[in-house]
Amino acid sequence: MKIVSVVGARPQFVKLAPIHKAAKAAGVEHVIVHTGQHYDPMLSDVFFEDLGIGAPDVHLGVGSGSHGVQTGAMLAALDAVFDEHRPDWVLVYGDTNSTVAAALSAVKMHIPVAHLEAGLRSFNRRMPEEHNRVMTDHAADLLLAPTEVAVDHLTSEGLAPRTVLVGDVMTDVLFEVRDEVAGRPSDLLAELGLEPGEYYLATIHRAENTDDPGRLRDVAAGLAGLDRPVILLAHPRVVAKAVAHGVALTQGSLIAHPPLAYPDLIAAALSSAGVVTDSGGLQKEAFLLRVPCTTVRTETEWVETVELGWNVLAGTAEEISAGASRPRPADTDEAPYGDGHAAERVIAELIRATDGTR
Ligand code: UD1
Repeated sequence: MKIVSVVGARPQFVKLAPIHKAAKAAGVEHVIVHTGQHYDPMLSDVFFEDLGIGAPDVHLGVGSGSHGVQTGAMLAALDAVFDEHRPDWVLVYGDTNSTVAAALSAVKMHIPVAHLEAGLRSFNRRMPEEHNRVMTDHAADLLLAPTEVAVDHLTSEGLAPRTVLVGDVMTDVLFEVRDEVAGRPSDLLAELGLEPGEYYLATIHRAENTDDPGRLRDVAAGLAGLDRPVILLAHPRVVAKAVAHGVALTQGSLIAHPPLAYPDLIAAALSSAGVVTDSGGLQKEAFLLRVPCTTVRTETEWVETVELGWNVLAGTAEEISAGASRPRPADTDEAPYGDGHAAERVIAELIRATDGTR
């Protein structure tokens, strides 16, 4: 059996790692296509190296652009790739422009498409990711849902016959990396002279927080006013927008720092007092590490983190401050994101569906 995985943005490289490992273990041919949506080494190459993926087989080198330009360039390039490889499955990940481009290209070529992390919904139609995931779910042949909540969303959209609950592959990779970095102090602490438990770790990159100057100014001011140093691992998007809008990303408690490689990020999150973020992945990683999270958004797809008390939504500076300084939540044994073996289930489902035994 042959699977082509299409990835392009940082969180997809993280999800790719356990899939690649499980595919190899099952003797499945796995071709990796990198669209080039993310190209800075710290957003791309380090993940392939640190997570043992090796180099992508195909690199489209698409780069940045408006949604239409970027997605269109991917579509134009992917047809030929799928035609050459003719896989049993095209596997697409999450909700980026790379996801929707690959799903659309493959489905029009009558190549079966499987969507990993299917069924997530924010119900916020202002988010580019919401359109990407809804369109991908409705185009795909097999919907690999990470949670019960995701299964419920797909069911209510009439997609239950194509849906299977596999768990969350991010849990697989997170648990492995957590165990690797356990007991090893984060390099970030030495570099910035920080004490464990005496800083917050922050990431902000979403369009709704970065693109409007007033909004970015408010978010930066909210972080700058926190009661401990706030290390902002600054994605190139927020750096570019801060320059364009004249907003300082180092002010008050706020200290801008380049993005970290995945093991360093996990080590830094583990010894932080809390995470403040608008990233979907980091909300969940914080929960799995049992680090309190404050999410700078009006809603989240990962509702379980909020229901279990480990995540709060924050819009204003006051809400960010209240969220970050709240008491530690009650411990929980709940495992809404699976048992760390989701990738094996994904490969087993793809094999089963190819054999027609599903
Ligand atoms: C994308 C995804 C988002 C995901 C995020 C993870 C879409 C619509 N959004 O957002 O869902 O959460 O990746 O990080 O697909 N840039 C660089 N170097 C890079 C990549 C980007 O400098 O390697 C800069 C460029 O100025 C670019 C901007 O970041 O225009 C935005 O990049 P883009 O890939 O469009 O979206 P992200 O914000 O990264």
